[in-house]
Amino acid sequence: MSRKPFLAGNWKMFKTGEEAVSFIGQFKSVTSSLTDRDVALAVPATALEAAAKAASGSPLIIGAQNLHWEKEGAYTGEISAQMIKATGATMVIIGHSERRQYFGDTDDKVAKKLGAALWTGLVPVVCVGENLSDRESGRTMDVLSSQVKGSLAGVNPAEAHKVVLAYEPVWAIGTGKSATEGMAQEVHVFLRRQLKEILGPQVADQIRIIYGGSVKPENAANILAQSEIDGLLVGGASLLVEPFTKIVSSPC
Ligand code: PGA
Repeated sequence: MSRKPFLAGNWKMFKTGEEAVSFIGQFKSVTSSLTDRDVALAVPATALEAAAKAASGSPLIIGAQNLHWEKEGAYTGEISAQMIKATGATMVIIGHSERRQYFGDTDDKVAKKLGAALWTGLVPVVCVGENLSDRESGRTMDVLSSQVKGSLAGVNPAEAHKVVLAYEPVWAIGTGKSATEGMAQEVHVFLRRQLKEILGPQVADQIRIIYGGSVKPENAANILAQSEIDGLLVGGASLLVEPFTKIVSSPC
């Protein structure tokens, strides 16, 4: 099964709308020549509209970093899938470990957010990952299995193939310690097996499983060379045009 690689940047809480427009102005032409892969940027909510406008006419996908599952309501500070879509963005990250760690995103909430994203037509990038103590105590696969099952609970089987699953070991995020290619491949094989159990082989084979955690221009190609790694989710190294261009242009 050949899956189209998915290479995304996650800007986290960095860049104003103006800074996003300047970055995208320099970067978007890169994506025009990379038609064999999807290239995306998850920008802060305040930059969504400007970023989507700046990217229009190019294949660059613009996305948000979080959403609320309700369409609208008394939820101060939140934004809905419909609001994201109205900015021109077409993707959203769900359940990033920083959301899970600092903002109470449980698997239940992730599942509801996933439902809202799919229903609205946004490409959902659902994140899972074990922390250091899980890995050191040999619980990595148990933790991942329960995160995947919980996060995908109730997903509409007809739409599940649109999900992008991001494996991001928490201990590798922003630490400079990336998982080795072998470690990541082993987990991706396991995750594909989990997806097959939950969704059946046909759907599971279409889902892109991408890796994130200290991806840099120096290690991107080796990670992408693994057969079960369908792309990358890049934090720090997506903030500057040059390293991110190198990463998204890696052979894959
Ligand atoms: P990092 O972040 O590349 O800076 O480790 C990855 C992420 O959090 O998505």
